[in-house]
Amino acid sequence: MSLIDALNWRYAVKKMNGQPVEQEKVDKIIAAAHLAPTSSGLQPFKVIVVTNQELKEKIAPIAFNQSQVIDSSHLLIFAANENYTDEGIDAVFNRMNAERGLPLDTTDAYKAQLKGMLLPRTAEENFNHAARQAYIAFGIAIAEAALLKVDATPMEGFNGPALDELLGLDKKGLKSVTLLPLGNRDEAGDWLVNLKKVRSPKEEFLIEFK
Ligand SMILES: Cc1cc2nc3c(=O)[nH]c(=O)nc-3n(C[C@H](O)[C@H](O)[C@H](O)COP(=O)(O)O)c2cc1C
Repeated sequence: MSLIDALNWRYAVKKMNGQPVEQEKVDKIIAAAHLAPTSSGLQPFKVIVVTNQELKEKIAPIAFNQSQVIDSSHLLIFAANENYTDEGIDAVFNRMNAERGLPLDTTDAYKAQLKGMLLPRTAEENFNHAARQAYIAFGIAIAEAALLKVDATPMEGFNGPALDELLGLDKKGLKSVTLLPLGNRDEAGDWLVNLKKVRSPKEEFLIEFK
C-alpha cells in the first residue's frame, strides 16, 4: 500500500472493538516515531506505552471519557521535555560522537552555539519547541500505523497536567502533549467509519510561486 493509499484508509477512529494490535506492529510504529527527525537531533520527548487496562480506565476520565482510550490495546502517550538542560545537550552530542567513532569535542562549536540559543530561553519556549518535535514523531507514528493497517486516533483532547500527575511524568521532567490509542475499528459501532474523508480543496491548501 502506498503512503497516500494508507492515509486515505486511515481515519480518526471514534470507536474501537477491543481487539488487540499485534505487538510486532506496535513495535514498528514506535520504531517509526523513534526515527523521526528532530531539531539538532535532540529528541526532546519520550513515547510512553500503556497496555495496563486498569491504568487505561484511570486515564479515560482525564481524556473526556473518549472510549478509544479503554478499547485500544496500546495507548501511546507522546510527552515532551519541560525544558532543555546543559547536561541533556551534552549527553546527546557525546552519544552521537561516540557512536560515530569521533572525538567528543568534534561538535563543540556547534553545541556552544546551540546552548547559547536554547538555554537562555524560558522553560515555556523550550517546552513548546520540544513539543513541536514530539508532534513530528506523532505524525510519523500515525502514518506508520496506517501503512500497517493499524487503527489509531490522534488525540489532544485530554487534561495534560492531570495525566502527568497520574503517571508521575512531572517528576521525570516531562509533559504529555498527545495521545495515540492503537486498536481496531468497530465497523458496526463507529459513526465515522463510512463517512467521506473531507479536506479543503487543493487550490485553497496549496500556494505556489511559479
Ligand atoms: C493534534 C490532533 C488532535 C486531535 N484530537 C482528537 C481527539 O481528542 N479526539 C478525537 O476523536 N479526534 C481527535 N483528532 C482527530 C481529528 O479530529 C481528525 O484527524 C480530523 O478531523 C481529520 O479527520 P481524519 O483524521 O479522520 O482524516 C485530533 C487530531 C489531531 C491531529
